[in-house]
Amino acid sequence: MNDNYENFKEQVRSQADIVKVVSDYVALKKKGPRYWGCCPFHSEKTPSFTVAPQKNLFHCFGCHAGGDVFNFIMKIENTTFPEAVKILAKKFGIAIPEKEKTEQEIQKEKASRELFDANALAVKFFQACLLKTEYGRKALEYLNGRGIDEAIIEKFSIGLAPPAFQTLLAALKSRGVSEELLVRAGLVVRRNDGKTYDRFRERVMIPIKDARGRVVGFTGRILGAAQPKYLNTGETDVFTKRSLLFGMDVALKAAREKRQIIVVEGHMDAIRLHASGIIWAVASMGTAFTEQHAGQIARAVPEVVFAFDNDEAGLKAAMDAIPLALKAGLEVRVLVVPKGKDPDDFIRSEGPEAFLNLLGKAPSGIDFQIERTLKQNNFSGLEGKVKTVSNILPLLLECKSDIEVVSRIRSLAQTLTIDENLLVGEYKKIRLGSVAPVAPRLTAAGRERNFDPVEQAERQLLFALIDSCVEDKAERFYEKIEETVFLDDTRAEIYRKFRELARKSGRDIGADLFSELKEGAAAELSLILQQELVIESAERVIGDCLKQLQLARLEKDYEYHGKLAAEYERNGDEKFLQELTESQRILAESQRLKNELKNVF
Ligand code: GTP
Ligand code: MN
Repeated sequence: MNDNYENFKEQVRSQADIVKVVSDYVALKKKGPRYWGCCPFHSEKTPSFTVAPQKNLFHCFGCHAGGDVFNFIMKIENTTFPEAVKILAKKFGIAIPEKEKTEQEIQKEKASRELFDANALAVKFFQACLLKTEYGRKALEYLNGRGIDEAIIEKFSIGLAPPAFQTLLAALKSRGVSEELLVRAGLVVRRNDGKTYDRFRERVMIPIKDARGRVVGFTGRILGAAQPKYLNTGETDVFTKRSLLFGMDVALKAAREKRQIIVVEGHMDAIRLHASGIIWAVASMGTAFTEQHAGQIARAVPEVVFAFDNDEAGLKAAMDAIPLALKAGLEVRVLVVPKGKDPDDFIRSEGPEAFLNLLGKAPSGIDFQIERTLKQNNFSGLEGKVKTVSNILPLLLECKSDIEVVSRIRSLAQTLTIDENLLVGEYKKIRLGSVAPVAPRLTAAGRERNFDPVEQAERQLLFALIDSCVEDKAERFYEKIEETVFLDDTRAEIYRKFRELARKSGRDIGADLFSELKEGAAAELSLILQQELVIESAERVIGDCLKQLQLARLEKDYEYHGKLAAEYERNGDEKFLQELTESQRILAESQRLKNELKNVF
């Protein structure tokens, strides 16, 4: 990357105030020098997410996410470092230097921009057709008949595709949009003989916008009874159904406040909910709910409520969606509308209050899954019972506590008339099988709870090294320190990247370091830099940390040689004397180090 980019990045960093940036996603409260809020990356009710404005860092004590302002955007917008820089640049009105983009990026951006522009013009055209023409009146009547008024038409930029074959084509061509681009945008179809015509005719046109409000495509509902009922833009680079959620752009703000997103199946259901003041609803695009959908929701809120159609397809869709949402870390509830087929019908006949009432009582994903499994199985015979049990017990792995598991097993035992202890036994087997054995490694959470002198020393050492960069003093330290002094892999990784960067650029590299690190390491670095340390003498602090780490190594070695000596002795091997001497030597050395360190840690 060139100097130009470096300057640009630094400009963004210095202007992108982390409190301002985070506040767009999290409600922050100031307490002392820090800000606190509920972590947007995991589900929680009491705030353990903190922002340190002086250091421009964030950290969550619950899920251990952390880093600088760029890491925050990367994580919450699920994007790359260069993209995060650009998002922040746009937010703070900083011009992005063209030079920094690759040729491919420039082409791709140009292509997307053309699509967005063509779509935006089409929106204008469709809106004019709906609101300002004679044939628009019939469509307006249709919409009003569905309870969709002017305000909602405006909010969702709803329009109308006229009945003739080349109106959009002619109108947009006269505004300088090429036929080629209209075909690429999926608004115009080219026949085999080369003739072109409008893809959408006599349809209410609903623009599909991405989370940033850019029109990526359309869905058109037929006026009347012809088939297909809905017609979509074909998939383009910007219109990807598996990752789009209709209404996300208008729902996001309210959803963050409600800490919940309602997902419905139909666009009209979502529009109806917004029209009824339930403005934190989105629709999956007539396709199955995907992992990408779940991820997007989980980044914004802790809970999803599926309000799918009350038919076989809708209930099955909910069964399929629940595990994906749970996997993304979401709390899940399912709202089944009792009367009518879908939320739109229900609200039309029962009113919004009744829907909110159902929302309040919507069962958890697990309850829904269990109930539906019980309904689908005939468990009067032994075979049916076995099958039901094997379908339901794995669902209990998602329970938050053993108390919940036990109480669910109890009621299941009653329903199926099976001995409770038998079910507990079966459940234990499943749980054992599902837990992969993990290497006994220190987790971030484990590290935090117990005071660990090695951890403390490694963190202080890194802090002091990064700190000393500011005065250009770090070189004489890091040239003498091997990566192997770090016992923890993550911190060894941080040190390696630190040294690489310091050798390249020398000065204040604390901030740059974040972009070089993987997520876990960035979070650890954030913790390291948030330590309240005043370094009076870098030499002394670094020296002491190194001694502490050396001591930890010696203790490990001592243990090793001691065991070896015992082993030899048992086997009558002469070498045991040699090992014993070695372990005594190590012991003496660590004793000496300990004395030196006594007053330090
Ligand atoms: P209304 O009849 O207008 O109330 O629509 P609905 O939302 O009740 O429709 P339905 O439950 O039949 O379908 C739900 C969603 O499935 C729609 O919003 C569309 O995304 C999708 N869908 C339904 N019918 C079609 C179709 O014929 N073609 C395509 N591509 N999608 C459809
Ligand atoms: Mn409907």
